[in-house]
Amino acid sequence: MPEPIVLAEGLRKSFGDTHALRGLDLTIPKGTICGVLGPNGAGKTTAVRILATLSDPDAGHARIAGYDVVRDAGQVRARIGLAGQYAAVDDKLTGRANLRMFARLSHLPRRQAHRRADELLERFGLTDAADRQVAGYSGGMRRRLDLITSLILRPQVLFLDEPTTGLDPRSRGEIWDNIRELVTDGTTVLLTTQYLDEADHLADDIAVVDHGHVIATGTPDQLKATIGDRLDVVLQDPDALNQAATVLKALTTTEPTTTGADRLSVALPGGSLKLADVVRELDRAEVAAADVRLRRPTLDEVFLRLTDRKQTVR
Ligand SMILES: Nc1ncnc2c1ncn2[C@@H]1O[C@H](COP(=O)(O)OP(=O)(O)OP(=O)(O)O)[C@@H](O)[C@H]1O
Ligand SMILES: [Mg+2]
Repeated sequence: MPEPIVLAEGLRKSFGDTHALRGLDLTIPKGTICGVLGPNGAGKTTAVRILATLSDPDAGHARIAGYDVVRDAGQVRARIGLAGQYAAVDDKLTGRANLRMFARLSHLPRRQAHRRADELLERFGLTDAADRQVAGYSGGMRRRLDLITSLILRPQVLFLDEPTTGLDPRSRGEIWDNIRELVTDGTTVLLTTQYLDEADHLADDIAVVDHGHVIATGTPDQLKATIGDRLDVVLQDPDALNQAATVLKALTTTEPTTTGADRLSVALPGGSLKLADVVRELDRAEVAAADVRLRRPTLDEVFLRLTDRKQTVR
């Protein structure tokens, strides 16, 4: 098997007493999107900065396309793009001027820099706004400009640190489309996000990071399968909530969560329980249900469970 295009083993990094990374491992196969998920302070940005050669690990090593991020930093930089957590574009310049500046900083000759800037503006739908000052851009346009500055040298691997934080659903959707397009062209993407639906929509594989290391990896479906299905019950009479909770707890040996005045949700361990059993037991306790249904868990539920109780899918 070829070496994955991104490979990190045992990365450690401390800032004084803060252990930002405590042995982080990550592998990303070429041409895929890896979503790195984790709560605030989990170590996502620290990991991205090390992989992008902006910071050295205290221990462990990482290779991008076979090149070591410390020893062969120049080779790595020639193959990657990075859009950081905070936009790096200059407010006072126009979109086009920003891109030309980044292209020149990337050592493209002037003519080529201009051509590449125009190409990217066109491709990512910013041509109309290209000659306006970035200060007047919306948050979405600014993020998109930031994303395309990282594409000037056609990177093989693109690091996106929270590419859609603070954007409205439409702008997020547009950035998702842009990211998918890049992957179709063969780019490998590592994106960090706090939005679980973003990882669910975009990522081939997810690495859940907590306290500086990876606590679970897998496809969104594999991660969901680890915690089993969920059962949602809506009651005809909200007064029966406690009684329904008792029945569900007895059936599942798990504490149900109240999801509304008249509804409950509970994890089904192993998915072995049948809907008919639930209905029968509720009936027997004389609890009238308006709706009983089984569903896959959301990635939010997986995340809450995983950051609670550690486990590995594969
Ligand atoms: N330059 C630094 N100096 C001191 N502490 C730092 C530095 N960079 C990161 N840290 C600490 O390391 C830990 C991990 O930070 P990091 O920025 O990697 O988290 P994150 O997962 O990106 O969080 P967020 O979701 O908030 O962006 C935090 O406790 C943070 O305070
Ligand atoms: Mg961060």
